[in-house]
Amino acid sequence: MTTTIALVTGANKGIGFETARQLGARGVTVLAGARDEARGRQAEQALRESGADARFVPLDVTDAKSAQEAADWIDREYGRLDILVNNAAIAVGGGAPSQTDLDAMREVYETNVFGVIAVTNAMLPLLRRAPAARIVNVSSEVGSITATTDPASPLGQMPASLAYPSSKSALNMITAMYAKELRDTPVKVNAANPGYTATDLNRHSGFRSAAEGAEASVYLATLGPDGPSGLLWGHLWTADGPAGAYGPLPW
Ligand SMILES: NC(=O)c1ccc[n+]([C@@H]2O[C@H](COP(=O)([O-])OP(=O)(O)OC[C@H]3O[C@@H](n4cnc5c(N)ncnc54)[C@H](OP(=O)(O)O)[C@@H]3O)[C@@H](O)[C@H]2O)c1
Repeated sequence: MTTTIALVTGANKGIGFETARQLGARGVTVLAGARDEARGRQAEQALRESGADARFVPLDVTDAKSAQEAADWIDREYGRLDILVNNAAIAVGGGAPSQTDLDAMREVYETNVFGVIAVTNAMLPLLRRAPAARIVNVSSEVGSITATTDPASPLGQMPASLAYPSSKSALNMITAMYAKELRDTPVKVNAANPGYTATDLNRHSGFRSAAEGAEASVYLATLGPDGPSGLLWGHLWTADGPAGAYGPLPW
């Protein structure tokens, strides 16, 4: 039986680590991307202790050279890539739009937007060589313009801020455009919404566990041949309060 090979960016902690752990538990070989070698090796060890066939891959998503080196290494070791989970992201520079710090905004876009494009384009030749590759862009409901502008949605109640939410709106369109380009191929491209998850990103204020937060990414990474492409899909946070429901979200 051929092994499925998955690369998860930002896999050393939080939702990315849990995504790698859950894919590993399904028998997938997980390549744990991390920008820091010590944190990456530690994650590799923890993943192996959980029973996963895991290997650390040095990968800073803001560095196109690092993305290409990771792709070259995967090519030499495996010759293809079945699953890419673009999970790495940062959330800095919050606050009112009128107070936005442009440097913080650029920093967020370097990781959350340009980083995804750099990694995806470096990995696409390998993904095209897989029989039915899956690309998961870890987005967020805070990037949904429909939810943000709906006063009845919990997202509509959140304070206005620019950098992180708009980076995820951009990622949603990027997802739709890759899905469009690849629609006549077996490659499926979707955006995942983990839901509000307790991680370092939000100083552990989320109401979902990292294991729950990883579920949408794992689902989209393991879609069958009849699965969708070009969707924002994941945890649904409705006005009635947090529920364990999943499904497509409005862009
Ligand atoms: N937590 C939530 O409520 C929530 C909700 C919706 C969506 N999300 C999304 O879920 C994903 C995972 O977030 P999280 O909550 O698990 O956050 P987290 O615990 O802060 O983890 C973020 C990961 O991204 C890595 N990273 C950051 N910049 C990187 C770079 N330039 N190159 C490579 N890796 C980099 C971090 O590595 P270091 O350890 O080296 O910093 C870390 O491994 C993100 O896309 C986030 O936007 C989170």
